[in-house]
Amino acid sequence: MEKKEQLYEGKAKKVYATSDQEVYIVSYKDDATAFNGQKKGTILGKGAINNRMTNFLMQKLETAGVPTHFVQELNDRETAVKKVSIVPLEVIVRNLSAGSFAKRYGVEEGIVFAQPTIEFSYKNDDLGDPLINDSHALALGLATQAEIDRIKDLAFRVNDFLKAFMKEHNVDLVDFKLEFGRLSDGTIVLADEISPDTCRFWDSATHEKLDKDRFRRDLGGVEDAYQEMMRRILGQ
Ligand code: TMP
Repeated sequence: MEKKEQLYEGKAKKVYATSDQEVYIVSYKDDATAFNGQKKGTILGKGAINNRMTNFLMQKLETAGVPTHFVQELNDRETAVKKVSIVPLEVIVRNLSAGSFAKRYGVEEGIVFAQPTIEFSYKNDDLGDPLINDSHALALGLATQAEIDRIKDLAFRVNDFLKAFMKEHNVDLVDFKLEFGRLSDGTIVLADEISPDTCRFWDSATHEKLDKDRFRRDLGGVEDAYQEMMRRILGQ
């Protein structure tokens, strides 16, 4: 499989075509943005960490019954993935209050929910990824009811697996964002990434933040937090 032209450049990754019609290559960057690109920076080594952590977790999720776009890790930063068309919904699952949830509802961070919550944002940078409900997603034709049902089911399955897995590594999974894609036959698979960019990870004992909130909130120790997560999960 040969790498061909660049198809897309996002805030944290680039996507390339390949000689195989059904396969893309994603290339992870060290670039970091927050607040819809208003804050910009670099997190040294992030691309390689997010690539390897995502691939490791997606392979585990496959064995837990969650289909993903993962095909093969090619090198530190690049991975072959199945070609999908991304469902333009950011799927956010929360176990504890934090971030926009805490702000929107005027509550402190760290409230443990009796059950996980799920919400969607409409993936649209021009609009700042607004919160969207099922009926509006249907009205806009972003997904079918069957796709929405499947996505919710898979997102909760991801949560069940990830939450338990992280706990074994003394990490509380606070919340995370997933994206799903459609294969050419319409099958829904988990796409994008699972990394400290897209999850909130708190040390179970100290509640220290081990994720991108260190960058968003100027807390310092950003690279160290990414490396610590890598060390805990992959032992490297
Ligand atoms: P939020 O509390 O800001 O809505 O974020 C919820 C989760 O989604 C958190 O784990 C960070 C992740 N996230 C992204 O992956 N991309 C984004 O653009 C935003 C705003 C959040």
